[in-house]
Amino acid sequence: SKGSYPTFMLKEIDEQPAVMRRIAQEYFDEERQVTVDQDLLTALSAADRLYFVAAGTSYHASLVGKRLFEKYTEIPVEVGVASEFGYHWPLLSKRPFFVFLSQSGETADSRQVLVEAKRRHLPVLVITNSANSTLAREADYTLLLHAGPEIAVASTKAYTAQIAVEAVLAKALGEKLAIQTAVDFDLLGQLGLAANGMETLVAEKDTWSELAHDYLQTANDAFYIGRGVDYDVSLEAALKLKEISYMHTEGFAAGELKHGTIALIEPGVPVIAFITEQATAAHTRGNVQEVVARGAKVLVIANQDCQDAADQIILPTLTTELMPLLTGVCGQLLAYYATLQRGLNVDQPRNLAKSVTVE
Ligand code: F6R
Repeated sequence: SKGSYPTFMLKEIDEQPAVMRRIAQEYFDEERQVTVDQDLLTALSAADRLYFVAAGTSYHASLVGKRLFEKYTEIPVEVGVASEFGYHWPLLSKRPFFVFLSQSGETADSRQVLVEAKRRHLPVLVITNSANSTLAREADYTLLLHAGPEIAVASTKAYTAQIAVEAVLAKALGEKLAIQTAVDFDLLGQLGLAANGMETLVAEKDTWSELAHDYLQTANDAFYIGRGVDYDVSLEAALKLKEISYMHTEGFAAGELKHGTIALIEPGVPVIAFITEQATAAHTRGNVQEVVARGAKVLVIANQDCQDAADQIILPTLTTELMPLLTGVCGQLLAYYATLQRGLNVDQPRNLAKSVTVE
C-alpha cells in the first residue's frame, strides 16, 4: 500500500536510504566484511570477461556496473541491451560469464538471452528484486536487491539497489582476486554516506518541485549531459523524465553534443548537467558554456569536489562510480515533480507496463 503517500513513485523514491542500509545489512557481516556466496565468487573468478545484459533502467544500472567491475576486479565487461544482444551475439571470450540485471525477473528480452546462454552451457547470474521470478529460477546464481516491491511503472529504488549490489559483488570478487583497490574500497562507509545523502535529497521536496517548475514546466524538450558515470546517469535521468512526463528528453555524452545535437539547442531549452567527476569536470563545464552561449537554461548538479559557486545543486562526494546513487535520485525527483505539475498519472504512464513479458 502507498500508506500516506500520494503515489507509489514518491514512496519508492523515499525508501532509497532504507534500501541502502538494508543492502549493507544483508551483504556485510558483524566484522564489516563483505559476504557473497562463495560458489558464485569461485565461478566468477574463473571468467575472463563478464557480459551484462539488461533492458531499460536495468541496462543503465549495468553501464555503471561495468565501471565498478573493471575498477575493482580488473575483469573486462561488455554491456548489452537485451533486445539487441539476443539477435546479434558478439564473439564471446574463452571463459564468458553472464550477468542479467532485472528488477522484475520477468523481462522477456532478457530471458531470451538467458535461455540461449544456458543452451550454450555458459554460467549465469541474475541480480533481481524477485526471488520467485522466471529469471531467478532459470539462473545458476541469484543475488537479491532487497529493495522491497516496486509498484510504480518508473523504476527508482531498483536502480540504486542494482548499483549498490553490483558494488557489493565487485568488492567481494575483487577481494577474492586480491585486487588492492577492492581491499581498500570502504563500501560499507560509502553506502552509509549514500543513505545520508539520499535522505537530505528526499527531504528537500520543495527545492525539487521549484527546480522542476523553473526548468521543465513549459519546456517541450530537455537534455541531460555528463561524462563517464555522469553520462550513464544522464541516460537514466532522461528515460525517467520522458517515460512519465512525455517530454522529449535525451541523455548525451557532454562532449558528443557538439557533433550534431547542439543544433537543437535554442533559447530557453533546459540542459541539465551532472558534474561529479573531477577528471572531466572542466571539460563538461566547457560544454555547459557552449550551450549557455546558444541560450540554453542550464541546471548544474555537481558534487563538493567539482562545485562552482553558480551551481544549483551540490551533492556530497562519493567514490566516482557510486555518484549515481545520488545523481540518480536527483533525476527521479525532477521527473516526478515535472510530471505532477503537468497533471499526469505518475505511477501509470501511457503505453507502459511494469514488466515487459513480450519480446
Ligand atoms: C524504466 C523501467 C524499464 C525497466 C525495463 C527492465 O523506468 O522501469 O525501463 O527498467 O523494462 O525491467 P526489469 O528490470 O524488470 O527487467
